[in-house]
Amino acid sequence: MKTNDSGEMFAYYDKRAAEYDDIYQGKAPGIPEPNVYKEDVEKIVKIAADFGRGHLIDIGCGTGYWLPHYSRNCSEITLVDQSRRMLVECQKRVNALHLDMDVHYIEGNFLEVDFSSGVFESAVVAFVVSHLTKEISEFFFDKLRKILKPGANVLWIDGSWSHIRKRHRIKSGPQKRALKNGQAFTIFKRYFDKHDIESAVEENSLVLDSIYFGDVFFAAQTSLGH
Ligand SMILES: C[S@@+](CC[C@H](N)C(=O)[O-])C[C@H]1O[C@@H](n2cnc3c(N)ncnc32)[C@H](O)[C@@H]1O
Repeated sequence: MKTNDSGEMFAYYDKRAAEYDDIYQGKAPGIPEPNVYKEDVEKIVKIAADFGRGHLIDIGCGTGYWLPHYSRNCSEITLVDQSRRMLVECQKRVNALHLDMDVHYIEGNFLEVDFSSGVFESAVVAFVVSHLTKEISEFFFDKLRKILKPGANVLWIDGSWSHIRKRHRIKSGPQKRALKNGQAFTIFKRYFDKHDIESAVEENSLVLDSIYFGDVFFAAQTSLGH
């Protein structure tokens, strides 16, 4: 199964790896509302610091921005990203932490990589589902459920469809993004309001444990039934 036109999105993130973390300071390519980024990042850092257990998989880990916060709760971590440059940035972050646990790196498309069933006690999925159409996200969640242990926890972080976002973006569809050097890409992106999140969680057979819904980002803590 292939992601929807994922080639350009994959190339965009690979090229953006060294400048990716700028988004968390409210810089481009984020919407021009830097203060709301600060507030949401602070809230989600606290949520991430309470999240994670056992063997955690971070799907589309990017530079591992949330990793310093959840890693202290885990015994083993698997980091998956299709972008080699993102994994290089992520590895720098991991090395700086001197973690006393096994950390595995998988370079590949999560939708295509083979995993054993029932391996992970927790998962972080941050800003990945928003790049998938509804149909492909169902395939994504099916695969995610299979690789999780019963009762596993999933932290889904993604972009909010809020009144502030509406001033600058369309809700769903191809969207332009540019690197600092001006190179432009068209990627598929969709944003979620609270109702969309609740529906997606239910439709994908997860239980919604809590939700933080900010002006730019949300964090939904969910779990898999036993
Ligand atoms: C928006 S970034 C988010 C990075 C990180 N999760 C974070 O919250 O900072 C999305 C990342 O997911 C990766 N990605 C997107 N779809 C993927 C897929 N199907 N398989 C593996 N990596 C994927 C991209 O390469 C990129 O590094």
